[in-house]
Amino acid sequence: MSNNFQYYSPTKVIFGKDTEAQVGALVKEQNCKKVLVHFGGQSAVKSGLIDKVKASLDETGVAHVELGGVVPNPHIAKVYEGIELCKKEGVDFILAVGGGSVIDSAKAIAYGLAYDGDVWDLFAGKGIKAPGCFPLGSVLTISAAGSETSNSCVITDEKTGLKRSYNDNIARPKFAIMDPELTKTLPDYQTESGCTDIMMHTMERYFTNGGNLELTDSLAEGLLRTVIKYAKILHTEPDNYEARAEIMWAGSLAHNDLTGCGNNGGDFASHLLEHEMGGMFDVTHGAGLAAVWPSWARYVYKDCLPRFVKYAVNVMGVTPAATDEETALKGIEAMEEFYHAIGMPINFKELGIAPTAEQKAQMADSCAQACGGSKGSAKKLYRDDFLAIYNMADV
Ligand code: NZQ
Ligand code: ZN
Repeated sequence: MSNNFQYYSPTKVIFGKDTEAQVGALVKEQNCKKVLVHFGGQSAVKSGLIDKVKASLDETGVAHVELGGVVPNPHIAKVYEGIELCKKEGVDFILAVGGGSVIDSAKAIAYGLAYDGDVWDLFAGKGIKAPGCFPLGSVLTISAAGSETSNSCVITDEKTGLKRSYNDNIARPKFAIMDPELTKTLPDYQTESGCTDIMMHTMERYFTNGGNLELTDSLAEGLLRTVIKYAKILHTEPDNYEARAEIMWAGSLAHNDLTGCGNNGGDFASHLLEHEMGGMFDVTHGAGLAAVWPSWARYVYKDCLPRFVKYAVNVMGVTPAATDEETALKGIEAMEEFYHAIGMPINFKELGIAPTAEQKAQMADSCAQACGGSKGSAKKLYRDDFLAIYNMADV
């Protein structure tokens, strides 16, 4: 039985080669006075994209200021800096040029501009709802987080190492410019981490014990098979435009809620587990997910067996074994083989982290704090379960 649902995906998508040239016109449509051009460390400057974006804004007569320097697992300090700058300059539209980290930093600035208190309040789990959000748009440079159409925003307090999310439909971007060509400069590790994250956004919605629609499942399985196919191609042919286009489109559809319509909100325990790893060890998000998912899957599969069997057969192409449990395990093994085939880790050692017992306990405590005690639909997990999964991944 499927659940009732709302599907809200208002972001205008402009997809294809050279679409970044339309950015000035798109921003102008928003009737704003001044734009903050927000970007990351150096890739968008080095590729000439920032110059192109500024030229397009100039052509359409849109005033702008800029703020770069967003780091992966973006910091709250940069958000504060952005809020100050926007207030001083009278900015009323934020344009993110980059990936999930830049878009999330832009979302947090947009929230902060509409909130009198400390914007971290929204992320700190105090139950505060954002009173508003300034409008934003993006020029996407990496297919991964799906933030270009999602309602989610993930920020790290670099002083405490806490990485926290805040979800609200008011932050869904006005537009997303998606030119697959722009992702060709990515290192393979980032491309494949992105593919892993994309799959995980749909897998989190797929492995549930509550409500499923056949159509939603078919969309999810088709998306997952597509990412598996093209992630492998990109591992050896990074310049393959068609593969980059398939992955980029999958990245948005995987996390704009389409592949969860009718379920019970999804599982999202793997993301919870990874966010603690990201906050403590600054690992790349998708790689962190690959390193923890197999342990999560082995820990929970018996409690969500029909879905694991369906996944094994329909997504991983496994021939059903004598028992459902064996089929499910073959599906998990096939995922591990896939991760290895695209250069992704399947445990902490391969990820390059070696947390102490104390650090694992700290991450498990923090998971429980962040989710208010328990998380998961495939299996409801508590603090000791989080710790058990970290221990399983720690080989
Ligand atoms: O800073 P620069 O120099 O631009 O380098 C970036 C960064 O080092 C580089 N990069 C981006 N585009 C490039 C490029 N390098 C060469 N060529 C290009 N075209 O890639 C690195 C990673 O960028 P980042 O934005 O961090 O990647 P991603 O999109 O994976 O975002 C990860 C962040 O998003 C959060 C993650 O937790 C993490 O903080 N997430 C956000 C979500 C959301 N808002 O909906 C959902 C996700 O589950 C995720 O949690
Ligand atoms: Zn993710």
